[in-house]
Amino acid sequence: MQFPKDFVWGAATAAFQIEGATGEDGRGPCIWDRFCQVPGKVINYDDGDPACDHYHRFKDDVALMKNLGLQSYRFSIAWPRIMPTGAGTPNQKGIDFYRRLAEELLSQGIKPVATLYHWDLPMGLQYRGGWANREIAYRLNDYAATMFRSLGDLVSDWTTINEPLCISWLGYGTGVHAPGYQDPAMAVRASHHLLLAHGLAVDSFRTVGPKHGRIGITFNMSGVDAATDSVADKAAAYRYDGWHHRWFFDPVFKGSYPADMMDWYSRFEPLDYIEPPDLAIISRPVDFVGINYYTRAIIKANPENPIFGGESLAPTAPVTDQNWEIVPSYLHQVISRIPTEWTDLPLYIHENGCAMPDAVNEQGQVEDTRRVEYIRDHLKVVHQLVSEGVNLKGYYVWSLLDNFEWAWGYEKRFGIVWVDYKTQQRIPKASALWYAKVIRNNGFEV
Ligand code: FCB
Repeated sequence: MQFPKDFVWGAATAAFQIEGATGEDGRGPCIWDRFCQVPGKVINYDDGDPACDHYHRFKDDVALMKNLGLQSYRFSIAWPRIMPTGAGTPNQKGIDFYRRLAEELLSQGIKPVATLYHWDLPMGLQYRGGWANREIAYRLNDYAATMFRSLGDLVSDWTTINEPLCISWLGYGTGVHAPGYQDPAMAVRASHHLLLAHGLAVDSFRTVGPKHGRIGITFNMSGVDAATDSVADKAAAYRYDGWHHRWFFDPVFKGSYPADMMDWYSRFEPLDYIEPPDLAIISRPVDFVGINYYTRAIIKANPENPIFGGESLAPTAPVTDQNWEIVPSYLHQVISRIPTEWTDLPLYIHENGCAMPDAVNEQGQVEDTRRVEYIRDHLKVVHQLVSEGVNLKGYYVWSLLDNFEWAWGYEKRFGIVWVDYKTQQRIPKASALWYAKVIRNNGFEV
């Protein structure tokens, strides 16, 4: 399977998950620092230290990327390093870290792609209500403009927000992620403010960002099936799709929220905080779309669940270490609808990968055969989509390194590179060596 010459091969990470050094060089506390201290929220009371100690080891990590032949690296910027309380004078030491990282990447011929917000909201803004407060959208924009000015000469590709669905619904709806609220009305509000923040940042990018730079947003998509052909299950699956996908894609690409979901969400509180000019801002043209894809959901109607009136049934296909169904064919379902329903812009898989119960063997190697299969089977679908003419331009594996997997702490390993958290030794797993070969050959044999 040969890929087009300009197809981009990369890997992704996020600041809180790998950097460590949470108290260094003026970084302020973020909602995840706090959440890790709340009993029962994160397995083993794990927290952001030392993670992969990437803050100190970034040069070695870039060397590792170079050895694997990565062409691009998607990382996130920690807002609390740049603005320790979330607003006000930028912290130069924080900016300098990302400048050094970007310079190192460029010196190794690796194209940096920066995510502005990958979940580490400064506590100073959480005290003001976090994403449930409209004001936070304007603070994100201040921070974004600071970063475009400070890093725009080195980084041309940017994505605003990683997975607004997870930020709003896991953070404010189900409470499994920071800041841990369980209030659907707040979750819907948060989702609107996240989208508004995105649109404002796109506007700033056009004025102060790099001239030939590109900006997009990163959405997570899930395959979806109705559990049965019943009218109720099909309606619940359609609402799940509205909750997960249409609520985010429609405003960005059509300039309106889906009417059925407006109606559904009005049960929580009136949506009159959606001010008329907001949608024009949210739908400002972007340059590409990032998609994170992992699994699918089988949806059965359940009126007890207020979020979308349904529930996810147990997986029927083999699962990962996190119980996520391994269903590569659904990558086709989610990507192929984008040009029909929303946009012809270039698409990038910004995340795809799996947690597996890896272990270092006696030879000191990690034979993660199932991860090789996972990535290979998803790449086959990527290849099929490209062959069908879908404007899919690159693939970033999640993740470069084993890292802090949010509520799961360090227990779930997603890396193509093993990290020994005590010694900070890195061991490229079999999947990393396989992926390196794919990159060298710009394809693989099936
Ligand atoms: C995504 C997140 C990423 C990582 C993967 C497994 O939802 O963007 O940080 O945790 O899931």
